[in-house]
Amino acid sequence: MATSFVVEAPNVAYTPDLIEAKYTYSTTLVSQEEGITKVKPCDTALTFRTERHVPKLGVMLVGWGGNNGTTVTAAVLANRLGLSWVTKTGTKHANYYGSLLQASTVSLGTGPSGEVYIPFRDLLPMVHPDDIVFDGWDISSMNLADAMQRAAVLDWPLQQQLRPFLESLKPRPGIYNPEFIAANQEKRADNVLGGTKAEQMAQIRCDIQDFKNSSGVDKVIVLWTANTERFCDVQPGVNDTAAHLLEAIERGLEVSPSTLFAVASILEGCSYINGSPQNTFVPGAVELAIQRGVFIAGDDFKSGQTKLKSVLVDFLVSSGLKPVSIVSYNHLGNNDGCNLSAPAQFRAKEVSKSCVVDDVVQSNPLLYGPGERPDHCVVIKYVPYVGDSKRALDEYTSEIALGGTNTIVIHNTCEDSLLAAPIILDLVILAELCQRIRVGVEGEAEPQPLHSVLSLLGFLCKAPLVPKGTPVVNALFRQRAAIENFFRACVGLPPQNHMLLEYKAQQLWGCARYPRAASTPAWPAPAQKTASHLNGFFRPPEGNRPTPSNDPCHLLEK
Ligand SMILES: NC(=O)c1ccc[n+]([C@@H]2O[C@H](COP(=O)([O-])OP(=O)(O)OC[C@H]3O[C@@H](n4cnc5c(N)ncnc54)[C@H](O)[C@@H]3O)[C@@H](O)[C@H]2O)c1
Repeated sequence: MATSFVVEAPNVAYTPDLIEAKYTYSTTLVSQEEGITKVKPCDTALTFRTERHVPKLGVMLVGWGGNNGTTVTAAVLANRLGLSWVTKTGTKHANYYGSLLQASTVSLGTGPSGEVYIPFRDLLPMVHPDDIVFDGWDISSMNLADAMQRAAVLDWPLQQQLRPFLESLKPRPGIYNPEFIAANQEKRADNVLGGTKAEQMAQIRCDIQDFKNSSGVDKVIVLWTANTERFCDVQPGVNDTAAHLLEAIERGLEVSPSTLFAVASILEGCSYINGSPQNTFVPGAVELAIQRGVFIAGDDFKSGQTKLKSVLVDFLVSSGLKPVSIVSYNHLGNNDGCNLSAPAQFRAKEVSKSCVVDDVVQSNPLLYGPGERPDHCVVIKYVPYVGDSKRALDEYTSEIALGGTNTIVIHNTCEDSLLAAPIILDLVILAELCQRIRVGVEGEAEPQPLHSVLSLLGFLCKAPLVPKGTPVVNALFRQRAAIENFFRACVGLPPQNHMLLEYKAQQLWGCARYPRAASTPAWPAPAQKTASHLNGFFRPPEGNRPTPSNDPCHLLEK
């Protein structure tokens, strides 16, 4: 596997500070003219500019003392310290499995030995999770070591090693409004800010400044991983514009704690990410972020059942099968489950979980008539005994050929916080990287930052927030391809099209030519016992391969 690479192409320039790539963005425009559907290929010349300097990143978690908050902090510490611990199934080592950036790879292209993969994190200069500094707020005063024990997520021997490092970490007081989270949370609310909404928000701003100054980080990102709130009414004159929202905070009108945190972050110029389903980003908050040029992203981490759904329904519909009934049942026993056992908070989660199939269904009018959707039912039950080990049971029934039906039943044990922690890391690292990228149409204005509503992070979210009027994509691999191809564009590489055309034509070209040396059989040769696998491709025996020096594709620093 290559670890770093340089693109040798006239359209790409590296300076000590920047990577600048000239890029042709190809799309197709479809129009109806005189009853004819006309499709016009359209090329736009773009410039991508990426700052290479990776800053020291600080992350402030709202809900730091919760299961996700403690788990992600512990995960980074365990990796930084290189910890190992013994369990009944053997010795485990700290890792970042479940992180798109740290534990998945992308193909750079094809070399003489097949495709060459690199870690996703090496596509562009990014913050390493080991280097993130954490801080945050919680309405519960417990220090992080005790909160980790309360969460009951990590193996005990690991907790014992982490305890001395976490004991001194104590969440800052949070904004508690019992109208927004379940009544059953009241007993842990012993660390709360008093005062008016305006005073509470001012304190959050002071906290952000204090963290930045005292920790020496260059940038701060704020992420909500606190309890799911009930939805907030969108009311004209209260939260429909940025000005109204700021005024509503001053006047003490209804503004949820999560929106207060979001407004405080935006006013401090810090990206804000919402990991829960509630509508923190009321129109006034979105407008404020756009006015201030600050990134916002959300909503609701896409970790277990919904992630699978966003793959499975895409697979069914894109295979020409017609899902007609999707029934999703969950039971979980952590504090999140306890909070979601209240109807208003469950409703927020239900909405967030239900939209995930919409774009896939709408993409296939051969299967679905106008307005037609599969029956889709989501149930969540609180069963304390299972703790953080959520059980998700799904039944997908599809109509198949000639009146038949196909039913798929899935039982998915999601260790919830262990799935969410790597997602939190990916979210903040991607958001930080996006702050260093500029893009613009050549010959027009200078390259500009991305839109404040950072829809590129949709891969990690159940209900992706997108700029007004923008298509919402839920299908997981379309979302992944968007991130991968965007980053490839930043280094001047074409989108990954998966055509492998050089191997499919009668006359092979490019890298596909190499294995076909005059005296050797066509490659890959199925019966060839000596061939070994490399990243899923046959590696031809040594003699059949060209040497790197005569390989024009050898542009990689391995
Ligand atoms: N774990 C997952 O897989 C997953 C997936 C998607 C979404 N989520 C969402 O992430 C959130 C956190 O999940 P969790 O399992 O860590 O829950 P948790 O209940 O263990 O942690 C939430 C923490 O937030 C604190 N809190 C509540 N209101 C607060 C406020 N206003 N200010 C500061 N702190 C506050 C609570 O005291 C608690 O410690 C939930 O909303 C959950 O729905 C989790």
